[in-house]
Amino acid sequence: MIFTDYKIKDLSLKNRIVMPPMCQYSADGAGIVQPFHLVHYGTRAQGGVGLIIIFATAVEERGRLSGNDLGIWNDEHIPGLKSLVDIVHGFGAKVTIQLAHAGRKATVGQGISSWDLRFSDEYPTPINMDESNINQVVRAFGEGARRAQQIGFDMVEIHGAHGYLINQFISPLVNHRKDSYGCKNGIGIKFLREIIKSVKINFEGPIGLRISAEEYSSEGLHPQNFLPLLSEIQQDHFTSVDLINVSSGGVIEGGFPSNVQPGYQIDFANEIKNGTDISILAGGMLRDPNKINEILIDKKADLIWLGRELLRNPYWPLQAMEQFKIEKDKPKQYKRAEPYFRNI
Ligand SMILES: Cc1cc2nc3c(=O)[nH]c(=O)nc-3n(C[C@H](O)[C@H](O)[C@H](O)COP(=O)(O)O)c2cc1C
Repeated sequence: MIFTDYKIKDLSLKNRIVMPPMCQYSADGAGIVQPFHLVHYGTRAQGGVGLIIIFATAVEERGRLSGNDLGIWNDEHIPGLKSLVDIVHGFGAKVTIQLAHAGRKATVGQGISSWDLRFSDEYPTPINMDESNINQVVRAFGEGARRAQQIGFDMVEIHGAHGYLINQFISPLVNHRKDSYGCKNGIGIKFLREIIKSVKINFEGPIGLRISAEEYSSEGLHPQNFLPLLSEIQQDHFTSVDLINVSSGGVIEGGFPSNVQPGYQIDFANEIKNGTDISILAGGMLRDPNKINEILIDKKADLIWLGRELLRNPYWPLQAMEQFKIEKDKPKQYKRAEPYFRNI
């Protein structure tokens, strides 16, 4: 099951294994791709991952999580990102870019947010965004998507999770606005809708959305709260998405689970999957191929990400294939080293 193909809109994936976005804080100060990124992602593509999601890439300079994030806020970012896409494609994987804005969690420059509430004592108080500021960010996501199209990305993921800017508008824990960008029925949708629309006008391929489905606070959002949001965005062609990447936490200080086990977010993904037709990507501390197979067979998710496991072991997919006695995607250059891999 892990190694059966899958389609998101017109995008064909060779298997169900996804490398999720994971910041590496290794760009130069201008947000440009470095040799590290080419080797890092090239190796995971060679290792057999079906879809790679390049980590949080800033659509505005002020929207960076750190001074060493990748950027897509101007055309100078295009050649480096194009090399990255080419190297991943060269090894047979598909590649998505996660478009991101840190908002009040930015560590460089002035933070902005849905409300002038700081994340924690370690962050400055952000500017409460007015409409012109909101329009500026919505346009920046569109410009990022236009560049992603020009570069040749297969897909775009909008980062609506982990307490970054879009999440700061979605969550009632952060968004206390009384205007049309405030929460209605306990959740803020308008800013997200405008961003999806701006991205879709500029990007033809499938669109993913990452959410923090569980905020780990009694006053916060839980998976069920996202079903009306998803149903609303799916009703309109210009705001519908093709993949939901179900993550959790990071919205408020301390908003993480205390005790995490392999698969701890799968029930959240399952709840969302039962309430929508959109394809679901899920994960969290997974590494056992049999457990991953079970999740897919039980239809709790359509695709599975392996985060830190792929940092530890870029050849996890090839090793799992060997374990399941599947003969495909083996790099022919390494044939003399057969059997290539120990069991995992
Ligand atoms: C070093 C590191 C950087 C991360 N950066 C991002 C990011 O840029 N965007 C994002 O949505 N999640 C990010 N995450 C979260 C991962 O995508 C993933 O959800 C998390 O690591 C849990 O999955 P795992 O247990 O398989 O590692 C990051 C995680 C790590 C470990």
